Amino acid sequence: MDMDSALALLDWQIEMGATEAIGDTPVNWYEVEAAKPPVPPRAVAAPPPMPATPMPASTPPAEVDAVAQARAAAAAAQDLAGLRAAMADFDLCEIKRGAKNLVFADGTPAARVMVIGEAPGRDEDLQGKPFVGRAGQFLDRMFAAIGMARDSADAQTALYITNVLPWRPPQNRDPQPDEVAMMLPFLERHVALAAPEVLVLMGNHSCGALLGRKGITRLRGHWAEALGRPVLPMFHPAYLLRNPHAKREAWHDLLMLQARLRGE
Ligand code: URA
Repeated sequence: MDMDSALALLDWQIEMGATEAIGDTPVNWYEVEAAKPPVPPRAVAAPPPMPATPMPASTPPAEVDAVAQARAAAAAAQDLAGLRAAMADFDLCEIKRGAKNLVFADGTPAARVMVIGEAPGRDEDLQGKPFVGRAGQFLDRMFAAIGMARDSADAQTALYITNVLPWRPPQNRDPQPDEVAMMLPFLERHVALAAPEVLVLMGNHSCGALLGRKGITRLRGHWAEALGRPVLPMFHPAYLLRNPHAKREAWHDLLMLQARLRGE
C-alpha cells in the first residue's frame, strides 16, 4: 500500500470512530501498567513563606462568663469612683460600642432615696447623665412636688439617680435579659456603696432587674424589698408623659414615699 492510500485509510477509520491502533499481537495492558516505573513527584515551586500569624487553637477558647467577670469587677470596687472606673473598663456589654458616654449616676450619693431607671436615652447618652431629657425633666418636677431634688445639698431632700444599664441601647430598644444580667452586679454594688434608705424603681425594667417581676400597673403603689432595702415601684416618667391619666397614681406613690421618709 502506498503512503497516500495508507493515510486515506487511516482518515476513514478515524472518521468511523476508531481511537486506537491495534497491533497484530495482543498486549496485556495490566502487566504493562504494573511494570511501569513509579512516576517521580513533580517538582513544585516552594510556596512563599506564610506571615507569622498564630495557628488557630485546636479547641475553641472557653466562653467568657460576662456575669462572673462583672461580679468580680464590681466586688473589687471600694467606692463610687472605683465602681465608675470599673464600669468604664467593662467591655463585654455589646451596647457599650454604640454609646457615646457611660451614664453612671447623678445627684447626691448621700441621698436617702436612690432612683433607678431603665437605661439612658439620646440626651442622657450625649450628656453622660441619667434622666436629663424630657422624661428626666418630668421626673424632677414629680419629686419637686414633694420637696426633693437631685441637686439638693441636704441628704434628707436629695435624690441619687442611676439606671439598670449605663449605656444607651441602640434606637432606645428595650434592655435585653443578657445585658441586664451582666450589668446587675454593678447595680447591686452601686446600691451597696451608696447605701440609700429607700429605692424607687422607675418602670418595668428596673422592677424586672431588682424584683425579678414585671407588671408595673400591679407592682406600683406597694412597698417591696430588694437588696435588703425597701423598694417602691412607680410608673416611669416617660409612661406618665404618654399616659397623663396615670399621674394621679404617681402622685399617690410620691405621697407614700414622703410618708415613709417622714416615718409616718
Ligand atoms: N429613661 C430612663 O429610664 N433613664 C434615663 O436615664 C432616661 C430615660
